[in-house]
Amino acid sequence: MKSTRREFLAQTALAGTGLSVASFLRGAPAPAPGAPGAAVSPRVASASRRQAFNMCGYAAPRLEKVRIGVIGLGSRGASAPARHRVIDGVEIKAICDIRPERIAVVLKGLEGTPHKPAVYTGSDDAWKKVCERDDIDVIYNCTPWHLHAPISIYAMEHGKHAFSEIPAAVTMEECWQLVETSERTKRHYMMLENCCYDFFELLTLNLAQQGFFGEIVHGEGAYIHNLMQLNFGKNSYQGMWRLKQNAARDGNLYPMHGLGPIAQIMNINRGDRLDYLVSVQSNDFQMGKRADALAAKDPDFAPFAGKKFRGNANTTTLRTELGRTLMVQHDVTSTRPYSRIHTVVGTEGSAQKWPEPGRIASHHSGWLPANEMKALEDKYTFALVKEIGATAKKIGGHGGMDFLMDWRWVSLLRHGLPLDMDVYDAAAWTAVGLLSEVSVANRSNSVDFPDFTAGSYKKNKPVNLTPASQQKS
Ligand SMILES: NC(=O)c1ccc[n+]([C@@H]2O[C@H](COP(=O)([O-])OP(=O)(O)OC[C@H]3O[C@@H](n4cnc5c(N)ncnc54)[C@H](O)[C@@H]3O)[C@@H](O)[C@H]2O)c1
Repeated sequence: MKSTRREFLAQTALAGTGLSVASFLRGAPAPAPGAPGAAVSPRVASASRRQAFNMCGYAAPRLEKVRIGVIGLGSRGASAPARHRVIDGVEIKAICDIRPERIAVVLKGLEGTPHKPAVYTGSDDAWKKVCERDDIDVIYNCTPWHLHAPISIYAMEHGKHAFSEIPAAVTMEECWQLVETSERTKRHYMMLENCCYDFFELLTLNLAQQGFFGEIVHGEGAYIHNLMQLNFGKNSYQGMWRLKQNAARDGNLYPMHGLGPIAQIMNINRGDRLDYLVSVQSNDFQMGKRADALAAKDPDFAPFAGKKFRGNANTTTLRTELGRTLMVQHDVTSTRPYSRIHTVVGTEGSAQKWPEPGRIASHHSGWLPANEMKALEDKYTFALVKEIGATAKKIGGHGGMDFLMDWRWVSLLRHGLPLDMDVYDAAAWTAVGLLSEVSVANRSNSVDFPDFTAGSYKKNKPVNLTPASQQKS
């Protein structure tokens, strides 16, 4: 029998996973995290979906106070209440982690402040109790990846806006469930892509929106960050969850740091959309050897011995419906110094952040000298950055972008305004990683991209970084 395109995609995605095409297409329950086929799950295609409600540009009723429950208080999550406690109008109502010692760290940090959160710990599903409270507006989720979607979906089902660390999900099915739940419940879902709030990235977004680059033709982003030490550290990620992901998955595991700012510049889901991708990947030359060597001396590493680890260098290229191209790299074993690349290429100008410092070129001038860069910064720095940038740098979090991000979404909720990033952004940016696995497993053949917006991208407005106080609610 001749396969349809959808069946062909499903067959190739499922090769060697033991799952049937029928279950893949029907939307069968996602496999358990780490199980074969976990990352390439149902519903790659989406031709017939109708949007229940458009969450792009959606404004929820304004909140006088923003009452937060933070779940997952590891190295990332423990820093969140430290930022939230200094933002006007925020109340930290509850904190949750399976490890009581992480609760203690956060409570210590809140000593002497008005924040006296209720504490949830001791069981794997204590987070459900936080989501079920009726005095919380926002669930802020900093748990390991496999818990991101289950917690966010449960939070929205219980009337909360869901904010989640990256990535949004570990299967395509979860991406769809996030979209459908956000639309049905009319709760905001925002993936906490802090790199969209880094200072040079914001400058280039404003330059793009003001037409400085002309037509955007091409963009490049990356997550190049040597995590060998952290991934193989027994005490860095709780239960070594991140090493498990690297041992069970393939492809571009973490595309959104590099992709998010470029996607905003290209108006992805807001005028244009991702059309298809091709992903090429090296073998693993490092992680398997390290795991075997450690396992020979330490039984805790025995489960990782002999495993086939994700290939070290992944390069994923994408084409948009309007004919633009993107390149997103992932390499967390690299000898290259840290880089998210952040290259923007337009018909009138270009920008590139890494290797730092960020540079901008106009026409064929070459990179602009310091005095012209300064003039551009003065003219094109967003009013939002002028308003809160200095405070953000003082309070910190990756140089200030973490605080800027949190301050921003709090002010938007308090003014009853749409958020800068919605569930469609989260699903699309996350799906780049998940569909790269399909391409890698299939000799880098191209994979079509689903339209999570069900066509509404054609009318959705570009992200609007105007300060909340200057926008009409
Ligand atoms: N945006 C960024 O710049 C950035 C930086 C670092 C990490 N992250 C993301 O933050 C997330 C957490 O990373 P991390 O480095 O803090 O990892 P971590 O292992 O230090 O923290 C995860 C925490 O979740 C807790 N946890 C696990 N299962 C739980 C459960 N069932 N209920 C409640 N708590 C549970 C763990 O005990 C741990 O404290 C990841 O998604 C990671 O990708 C983002």
